[in-house]
Amino acid sequence: MNMILKQLQQQRILPVIQLEDLKGAEPLAEILITHGFPIIEITLRSDVSLAAIERIKKRYPQSILSAGTVLTPTQVDSARKAGAEFVISPGFNPVTFKHALQSNMFMVPGVNSPSDIEQAFYHGASVMKFFPAEASGGVNMLKSLTGPYQRIHLIPTGGINPDNLASYLQIPQVIACGGTWLAPLDSLNKGQWKIIEEKVKVTRNLIDS
Ligand code: 3PG
Repeated sequence: MNMILKQLQQQRILPVIQLEDLKGAEPLAEILITHGFPIIEITLRSDVSLAAIERIKKRYPQSILSAGTVLTPTQVDSARKAGAEFVISPGFNPVTFKHALQSNMFMVPGVNSPSDIEQAFYHGASVMKFFPAEASGGVNMLKSLTGPYQRIHLIPTGGINPDNLASYLQIPQVIACGGTWLAPLDSLNKGQWKIIEEKVKVTRNLIDS
């Protein structure tokens, strides 16, 4: 496992952020970093996503940013240019994955079935995003999936929240859980930094307890 993933394994949570207003990039990063979450996924789902990665990395060089929702080879390249250190996709696309591999960009592809896992594993993935976690059967599905595939590491994402977080984190192959619950889109859009900070603190306490 590479260094970033080792750090992610310690962080236990991967905040998934969908920024639609660039002004939110710095206040959000400040909260996450202050509370011990310097590894952040910024999804490429808005016009400001790449600029947000660039801005956070410049202001907080200690942050470790990943670009999420990376669907094409071009997005792999744009993410790197913006300052992302790894990329994540919701599914597995061998073309995009091979491009990332060849250009030395660590990529975490999404999977939610044995066939997905085998495809991703065959192409060289060792860490995969289990997505959408809850809708795909949650912890029960994940436990069944990990039975035959002991050597992979997983980042379940999708429908995870403080109530079900612990049940995912106790599965040995799970290195971290991802999700938007720390900074929901609505709060981000309204600039509700106190509400976001409260959510981040609740998660911090859960991890530390
Ligand atoms: C993602 O992009 O990884 C998911 O949309 C996050 O899912 P969540 O909003 O249920 O956490």
